[in-house]
Amino acid sequence: MAELKKLTIGVLTSGGDAPGMNAAIRAVVRTALANNMQAIGIINGYTGLLNGEFRPLNARDVGSILQRGGTILQTSRSKRFEEPAGQREAIRNMNEAGIDALVVIGGEGSLKGAHALSQQGIKVVGIPGSIDNDVWGTSISVGADTAMNTIMDAVDKLRDTASSHQRAFLVETMGRNCGYLAVMAGIVCGAEITLVPEMPVTVKEVADVIEDAYKRGKNHAIIINAEGSPIPTMELAAALENMDVGFKTRMTILGHIQRGGSPTAYDRLLASRMGVKAIEALVEGKHGVMTGIHGDSVVFVPLEDVISNKREVNKEYYHMARVLAR
Ligand code: F6P
Repeated sequence: MAELKKLTIGVLTSGGDAPGMNAAIRAVVRTALANNMQAIGIINGYTGLLNGEFRPLNARDVGSILQRGGTILQTSRSKRFEEPAGQREAIRNMNEAGIDALVVIGGEGSLKGAHALSQQGIKVVGIPGSIDNDVWGTSISVGADTAMNTIMDAVDKLRDTASSHQRAFLVETMGRNCGYLAVMAGIVCGAEITLVPEMPVTVKEVADVIEDAYKRGKNHAIIINAEGSPIPTMELAAALENMDVGFKTRMTILGHIQRGGSPTAYDRLLASRMGVKAIEALVEGKHGVMTGIHGDSVVFVPLEDVISNKREVNKEYYHMARVLAR
């Protein structure tokens, strides 16, 4: 009797890399193999899908990557794939390579791509992977915890020098249009004020908060400014420098440092759990879904819902940071 073709799973990482993506790749590949499937790594995200950059992955290929930041599969942001013609080409390449289903690890934009493929009949499961934590349908995405810890470590260091010189430090965090990292940093780094894209604020309000902190006897101040906040960091730094708020101001843009580094225990566990669940979904015939964390459980969220809803900033945490900065 002819041997049945093993189900072949493609896995790719797309968009900004996030610590823990490798742990997710490892979990996807090893769970697929454990379920008598084959795994193929797609190099360079959707660009690789368009260019047919495929590489079979076995258990050893994903050895010793659990602890590594970045993504061994490489990543990209592909404009070509956003077009229907690009998607059709990607599907043709997948069919030619015998890829029966796809696991997409990435953020908002990457999951939009996953949804587009799913609409065209491809079996896709998404895993949210983005330091921004801007994906709707999961309380946390792979990489956000590590980025948060990187920010905390950096701000702790800046606080040492800020308090030694009695300065205010303006620190810019990443997050594109999402204030998650900034709001959380506001709490865990004890910032005087946090600016996020989702909440209006003026230079005067920031200046008043910092001056008030000075008058209350604080010997330094931390301002967290999210990338995409209503006041760009350079502009805010220049404005504060020209105002008498008590402290002199220095500015630090944390930038891509936040994307790198070895994933935290939390991210390794999250990525592993989601990787396993993604394959379990396909085994059970589920697709067109993303793995999400609800409470303590990994659940499946329709990609349709993921892409048509916007994640809100946690206003309770935003206000909590202000109260705790007294
Ligand atoms: O989505 C992750 C992220 O790091 C965002 O926070 C940031 O806006 C963007 O990617 C930066 O993108 P790039 O690495 O392409 O400059």
